[in-house]
Amino acid sequence: MEESAQPGSGSSRPRVFIETYGCQMNIADSELVGAVLRRAGYAFAAAPEEADVILLNTCAIREHAEERVLQRLGHLARLRRARPELRLGLLGCMATHTRAALAEKAPWLDVIAGPDSYRRLPELLGRARSGGAARQAPQIDVRLDRLETYADIVPGHQGGVRAYVTAMRGCDRFCAFCVVPYVRGRERSVPPEAILDDIRGLAAGGAREIVLLGQTVNAYRFGDTDFGRLLHLVAAVEGIERIRFTSPHPSDMSESVIEAMATEPKVQPSLHLPVQSGSDRILAAMERGYTAGEYLRLVERIREAVPEIALSTDIIVGFHGEEEADFRATLELMAAVRYDSAFSFKYSLRENTRAFRFGDTVGEEEKGRRLSEIIALQERISAERNRALVGRQVAVLVEGPARRGEGMLAGKTPQFKTAVFPAAASIAPGDTVAARVESANAHTLHCALA
Ligand code: 5AD
Ligand code: SF4
Repeated sequence: MEESAQPGSGSSRPRVFIETYGCQMNIADSELVGAVLRRAGYAFAAAPEEADVILLNTCAIREHAEERVLQRLGHLARLRRARPELRLGLLGCMATHTRAALAEKAPWLDVIAGPDSYRRLPELLGRARSGGAARQAPQIDVRLDRLETYADIVPGHQGGVRAYVTAMRGCDRFCAFCVVPYVRGRERSVPPEAILDDIRGLAAGGAREIVLLGQTVNAYRFGDTDFGRLLHLVAAVEGIERIRFTSPHPSDMSESVIEAMATEPKVQPSLHLPVQSGSDRILAAMERGYTAGEYLRLVERIREAVPEIALSTDIIVGFHGEEEADFRATLELMAAVRYDSAFSFKYSLRENTRAFRFGDTVGEEEKGRRLSEIIALQERISAERNRALVGRQVAVLVEGPARRGEGMLAGKTPQFKTAVFPAAASIAPGDTVAARVESANAHTLHCALA
């Protein structure tokens, strides 16, 4: 550890490359791992080929996510064979989900570490690297720790206009389909001071927008500080212009949170509010804790408080027992809410979850058909909602060059819609510009500077 601080030690420092899969929580966790390893004397490699250690931070939410990682691991194993000193590590949700099975499926893994084990990574890697070209036994640490919040570690943020900050770890909700409570453990909130310190540093480094993260982020509570209060505290940080959070659970959408959204101008008018299904029968089987009617009333209450709000959601099709009528109820709910966007998924049966023993009742092809119908409906609604903005002026927080289109810049509106507009020499990332919407599709607002 001390060694890393010494001048001249740079060239001999081991280099690590971290690849991140899954949600924003994993992006934030990779930044945390980066800080832990930097403190322990590691440098960062620009590519896997240049690394002494490659770490994959993984997702276990659906089978497909795990398959992608296993494929990638197969590829990296070849690199590992060609360079016997290289060490491969698997971090994150797949580590706790598959545990021992993983060591069998991927015997060339040197380190397997779960979301609560990152503090111990330097020792795990140290042992794994101790033999040089001679391979050591895999180091496995997948213990969950209901107290670990990494409050004392300031993540090594990637830099950029928007930054992700973990407010809460774990989940206590145990929705019947979901592995998260098992792979990430019990809910725990990060002390407000640690969150605010991190955000002050981010603001000084040029970040303008903060996204507070947690699996059920609005269940945040540390002492007297609930999530509504936390939003106000973050809003008081100078230099931060926009605040968002993801993902809230509908049942934790308290008056305190709605009040903060309505009264705190920095809290942006966009909300990702996962509904999962529009059928009461399926919502009950999923153990989501609300009915479609209750969810719709919540949407009404939020729209009353924040009229300009853009809503997005998550939807699962083909959950155990989902009949055509249940599926239709989901389409109806979507048509009633008219979300600005939606992420939809085929139900993926996950080991360890409450619904696992019920099995799959909807065939793969039928899930595909339902998914296509959900996507088509949402595309239509998204396009309609975005086209209704044509002619309107929007405030765009500029992030950088647009992914498509030479000479174009891209950024987000307060509603978290992607806006692109012609670049100008005077405009830099981090600026907020006024733009007029000229045309729109389901995913993008094409603008001219106003
Ligand atoms: N199958 C399909 N989708 C799932 N999600 C969570 N678990 C599963 C599963 N087993 C979806 C939910 C959640 C989002 C992050 O992933 O919609 O909100
Ligand atoms: Fe999974 Fe439900 Fe927790 Fe979200 S609230 S992480 S869907 S168990």
